[in-house]
Amino acid sequence: MESVNTSVERHYGHEGIYDAIVSALKEQGVDIRRVQSDDLAMIDEFHVRAREGTVELAGRHSFKPGSRVLDVGCGIGGSSRFLATKLGCNVTGIDLTHEFVATAIRLSELVGLDGSIKFQQASALELPFADNSFDVVWTQHVQMNIKDKQRFYAEMARVLVPGGHMVFHDIFQNEDHQPYFPVPWAADPSISFLTTPEKARSIIESLGLRIVDWEETTAKSLEWMLVMAERAKAAPKPMPGLQIVMGNQTNVRLENAMRSLADDRIKVIQAVAEK
Ligand SMILES: C[S@@+](CC[C@H](N)C(=O)[O-])C[C@H]1O[C@@H](n2cnc3c(N)ncnc32)[C@H](O)[C@@H]1O
Repeated sequence: MESVNTSVERHYGHEGIYDAIVSALKEQGVDIRRVQSDDLAMIDEFHVRAREGTVELAGRHSFKPGSRVLDVGCGIGGSSRFLATKLGCNVTGIDLTHEFVATAIRLSELVGLDGSIKFQQASALELPFADNSFDVVWTQHVQMNIKDKQRFYAEMARVLVPGGHMVFHDIFQNEDHQPYFPVPWAADPSISFLTTPEKARSIIESLGLRIVDWEETTAKSLEWMLVMAERAKAAPKPMPGLQIVMGNQTNVRLENAMRSLADDRIKVIQAVAEK
């Protein structure tokens, strides 16, 4: 049987994402020699509330220029580029999916980012970094694909310096409810490992971290998805967006995520924990 890592990579990775993004930008009239990371924002942020969610999460911590940030499960690097370009952080992104990492590197070159950002393929469960090597560990919408929550949070805590912060934005299940499948992170339950916010919080605290900010953002997330769906319906032609990254069944996956939020099957949390 295929390993979970292979199934997760097969779920997310498909060829040609970079070229498809460049074509979409050109269709929008963007001059490819002068692309800014803001031009990518509706495509490269693979989580609910896209850039809005990233801005809100970033506002929960006082990032300093030069802060060493690890983006765990960085996808094609949207949040990493935001942290590097807007907040001056020194960002390292890791992700399991080779095609995403390759795309993250090429998009960062396209927008002219060099020294302040790097990406590598790695598993969140075996971070290839020494203990105490980052000021902030950031993660958005990754742990849904990870069964071993204890190890996921322990790895992030291990690489944080004492006094460093874990900053996250994630999807959880409400009690023992399951989402309607397929969802953006899984075609079926075989690679979806949701836990409750309460269990995640208790693991984080058992690792000696202190929760300093915790907000449920389910209602805002649902509202945003409804607005986006209306906007897409009203648009004269398809708007470039997550379908480029998500590929097959984007609409049904997004509708199921929205229905799962509306029916209280899943919850969204943004939080910060201090080591
Ligand atoms: C929904 S995407 C979110 C990407 C990015 N954080 C963002 O918000 O744009 C989930 C990402 O988690 C990554 N992922 C899933 N399991 C992982 C693991 N065990 N280690 C590292 N990355 C993983 C996937 O490859 C995918 O890029």
